[in-house]
Amino acid sequence: MTQFWKPGSEKPRLVDDEEGGILFFSTPTSSSSSSRFGYSSIDKQRQGLPVYKYRNGILYLVENHATTIIVGETGSGKTTQIPQYLNEAGWAEGGRVIACTQPRRLAVQAVASRVAEEMGVKLGEEVGYIIRFEDLTKPGVTKIKFLTDGVLLREMMDDPLLTNYSVIMVDEAHERSLATDILLGLLKKIQRRRPDLRLIISSATIEARTMSSFFDTSGRMHKKAGDEIEPKKEPAILSVEGRGFNVQIHYLEEPASDYLQAAVSTVLLIHDQEPIGDILVFLTGQDDIDSAVQLLTEEAQNLKKNSSGLVVLPLYSGLSRGDQDLIFAPTPRGKRKVIVSTNIAETSLTLEGIVYVVDSGFSKQRFYNPISDIENLVVAPISKASARQRAGRAGRVRSGKCYRLYTEEYFVKEMPAEGIPEMQRSNLVSCVIQLKALGIDNILGFDWPASPPPEAMVRALEVLYSLGILDEDAKLTSPIGFQVAEIPLDPMISKMIMSGSLLGCSEEVITVAAILSVQSIWVAVRGVQKEMDEAKLRFAAAEGDHVTFLNVYKGFLQSGKSSQWCYKNFINYHAMKKVLEIREQLKRIAHRLGIALKSCEGDTQVLRKAVTAGFFANACRLEAFSQAGMYKTIRSSQEVYIHPSSVLFRVNPKWVIFHSIVSTDRQYMRNVIAIDPSWLTEAAPQFYQQQGLNKVAY
Ligand code: CDP
Ligand code: MG
Repeated sequence: MTQFWKPGSEKPRLVDDEEGGILFFSTPTSSSSSSRFGYSSIDKQRQGLPVYKYRNGILYLVENHATTIIVGETGSGKTTQIPQYLNEAGWAEGGRVIACTQPRRLAVQAVASRVAEEMGVKLGEEVGYIIRFEDLTKPGVTKIKFLTDGVLLREMMDDPLLTNYSVIMVDEAHERSLATDILLGLLKKIQRRRPDLRLIISSATIEARTMSSFFDTSGRMHKKAGDEIEPKKEPAILSVEGRGFNVQIHYLEEPASDYLQAAVSTVLLIHDQEPIGDILVFLTGQDDIDSAVQLLTEEAQNLKKNSSGLVVLPLYSGLSRGDQDLIFAPTPRGKRKVIVSTNIAETSLTLEGIVYVVDSGFSKQRFYNPISDIENLVVAPISKASARQRAGRAGRVRSGKCYRLYTEEYFVKEMPAEGIPEMQRSNLVSCVIQLKALGIDNILGFDWPASPPPEAMVRALEVLYSLGILDEDAKLTSPIGFQVAEIPLDPMISKMIMSGSLLGCSEEVITVAAILSVQSIWVAVRGVQKEMDEAKLRFAAAEGDHVTFLNVYKGFLQSGKSSQWCYKNFINYHAMKKVLEIREQLKRIAHRLGIALKSCEGDTQVLRKAVTAGFFANACRLEAFSQAGMYKTIRSSQEVYIHPSSVLFRVNPKWVIFHSIVSTDRQYMRNVIAIDPSWLTEAAPQFYQQQGLNKVAY
């Protein structure tokens, strides 16, 4: 495939002048932390970062304002440096902890290990991190703690005012993830009760003024007489200039029909024609990234003249530690690293040495439709703001080039300026239950940074009521509601676990829950579809994917948890190890909730009933007289199909329940299980009465 490029007119220096109203704060360069006897290379590196100039300024603002908003280009040092400055200034003295949240788990791990390295300490001691199912902190020792915003929300259940923390830095706020927005709303509440708490909201591009007015409570608060230490209520805004080099933008002349193929061709074109320098490719998810890595690796082997010049690496959440280290390791001399990434490399992680960026123009995004009650993970167009960020990644070390796999006309005329906050395009079931667990009853009246659609809220309340998690007064039920809220999983999975315990299959539901918590236990390799399908058949159960998972898990244990066995069966060994870890955690949680572990010894009917108890809202019926394989959801008559990765693909049982939906050309159900429709009315009588299911002949 030939690519036609033309240089675009836009040269993003990424100094966002659209931002206009940002106050510029400047202070003399600090020299307080530098040694008189010369700097170590780490000190030198730290002091070379743009944010270093603002060290004293930041500390001053944090001291004097309840909230400080910091905007600075990716790579300027916000995430790795600011927590260290706070620590150096004594904010972690007296047993207090500095927290820094990230929307993504992988970023939490990567940043924490970097900061531990810079401070010369062992990860898990002074510097630690917590992500779901993994706690690498030491109470009383850890001073700087990186964690996902979701984990911090969970910590509020035990400590509603987050009293351990002196400063909470909500990082990557521009991403507007669901958990970030909930967190911002709750932190605003906490601030009223804790004048000693300081917040930092930091991001690459934020509408700083919107955020500032959200946190500005100065009009409403009355200063207590004689209270000298109270910080200023109006937020401070600080902008850190970037130091990016020019990036030349190239567009496609004609739209690409296959962005994956276009990305691969573009990388090869760059490799062939451009001077040395690493390439960062933005694709959307594990599937297309793995495919692209495979295609590029094969191509690289075929490139006789330049053989092994390319080092191709994937980057997505769920990578093993070893794979993560490869991403950050320096490129071997004379080689060119190609990193194929999700939008995690857009602003969350800084990769050194990138000179070329290939931007597919897409990312995987959640979309929820309250009418159909379906949440999709969709490959959707990114915004202009994202496209600019992606391009900026090419200008870190010297001037670079960005190849956009779309036309200039598309960029100018069709690409939306900003993304929509996740809050406004998500299923709110988890969000509602978390707020309820924190005692927030008036959810519709909650002070959100961006209001969720009322229909989505109503749907969430309805589902939670049917699940028996909320009562008629929309309060958490006891014990089910409170127990479900305790489990750090999707409420539907938690309900499945609770029901599994009642039905006598807690062992099995915990295994299923652990497997559903990892991305996929199968390895996808292009070109060996037949072998992969055959391997899957060895485990396939007529009842569906959940039961198949149990067979895989059993086989894995019987093999002595062997990596060879996984390799032979196209099973992802790393994912299976993760499953074991998560399962251990879930066992501990089950123990805490008083759930005794019990196996149903192969009685798949009880397991499927437990799945139904959690996921009844996702029930579908095969349309007998229409196109083959077409199902309709019971709730809203949406047309859906079984995903080809499911063991029930082409089997098409009459009644099924799905775990999730992915949309490509059609809406596909992933992880599907066959059920008996009578279980639906059993599991959720009110929910299905309106649907007239009782009258349906089955
Ligand atoms: O948060 P922000 O994007 O402002 O920057 P950062 O993540 O604090 O990164 C600051 C610098 O640290 C980057 O320019 C990288 O050079 C370096 N860094 C690194 O080398 N390895 C990491 N794992 C993280 C950061
Ligand atoms: Mg950062």
